[in-house]
Amino acid sequence: MRSKVTVIGAGNVGANTAQKIAQKELADVILVDVVEGVPQGKALDMLESAPVEGYDVCLVGTNSYEETSNSDVVVITAGFPRKPGMSRDDLLLANYEVVKSATQQAVKHSPNAILILVTNPLDAMCWTAMKTSGFPRERVIGMAGVLDTARFRTFIAEQLEVSFENVTAMVLGGHGDTMVPLVRFTNVSGIPLSELTTQDVIDRMVQRTRDGGAEIVKYLKTGSAYYAPAASTVEMVESILKDKKKVLPCAVHLTGEYGINGLFVGVPVKLGKSGVEKIYEIKLDSAEAAALRKSADAVQELVSVLEKKVA
Ligand code: NAI
Ligand code: 2OP
Repeated sequence: MRSKVTVIGAGNVGANTAQKIAQKELADVILVDVVEGVPQGKALDMLESAPVEGYDVCLVGTNSYEETSNSDVVVITAGFPRKPGMSRDDLLLANYEVVKSATQQAVKHSPNAILILVTNPLDAMCWTAMKTSGFPRERVIGMAGVLDTARFRTFIAEQLEVSFENVTAMVLGGHGDTMVPLVRFTNVSGIPLSELTTQDVIDRMVQRTRDGGAEIVKYLKTGSAYYAPAASTVEMVESILKDKKKVLPCAVHLTGEYGINGLFVGVPVKLGKSGVEKIYEIKLDSAEAAALRKSADAVQELVSVLEKKVA
């Protein structure tokens, strides 16, 4: 029997995620949105490319949650994207309501699903979904680290004129300006980055990674990135559905790891059929640990706003 994935939000990230899942024949896909006609039209359009692309999965667009029943994975992209001049944090309260309502309806029909959050501000939306669903932390996972790491890898590969595939990197922390690209754990086919270029160049690539989302927003003007975000989300979905046990940086609920308690923060995890199967607690030096702490503090600020709202 084929797996089933629900993608909530049929906008730029959601539609591209649905299409990539279909193209890889990972699962049947249910695309949900509040706007009438949009998920139906996009799902049908994708289905009509199946004979050309050669994939055999079902794609259904809907405004209701009945069709989502018994999904293995639910991806939540519903919400409002960042506009120029707007921080991810400006989205907090508006997207809290959206994610809360999407989570409530999704888990009612798929109580055993694994939730992957994409909506911003990412780490606070993961907190919202966990609180709303009551799911264990293994089944509530945020997508951001895979994207931020992909950006860092892209800039390194371009700078050094090497294959993108050869670059291994790791970006931890919250999905915001304080994210933590870990240079010490970054290499090209095993050669440490610090041996391949100067500290100045590394610093510039680190900063460009932190500004990666804003760089795309500045170009697009009316929205934010979606091709790389969708690809990153699908890498997580694939690792779960195929039980690949990939080690990827994802936002997970920490309960003491890295000295962080009760917050979603990006750290390396193993993703398999049960969701988060292991959290890797790597030894950080004092500068790295301080940067991660600062990033966690930024996440805490947003969560405190939400905690007051729900109190
Ligand atoms: P978009 O505006 O293209 O799509 C959002 C969709 O959500 C729209 O179709 C809208 O109708 C739908 N929606 C709104 N409320 C809904 C509800 N209650 N139920 C179901 N659908 C609802 O936006 P885009 O570009 O797809 O981005 C989606 C979200 O993902 C944004 O919050 C954005 O900031 C975030 N994002 C996060 C990334 C990450 O790394 N975590 C990367 C890229 C985007
Ligand atoms: C990004 O990093 C907007 O969070 C989104 O592109």
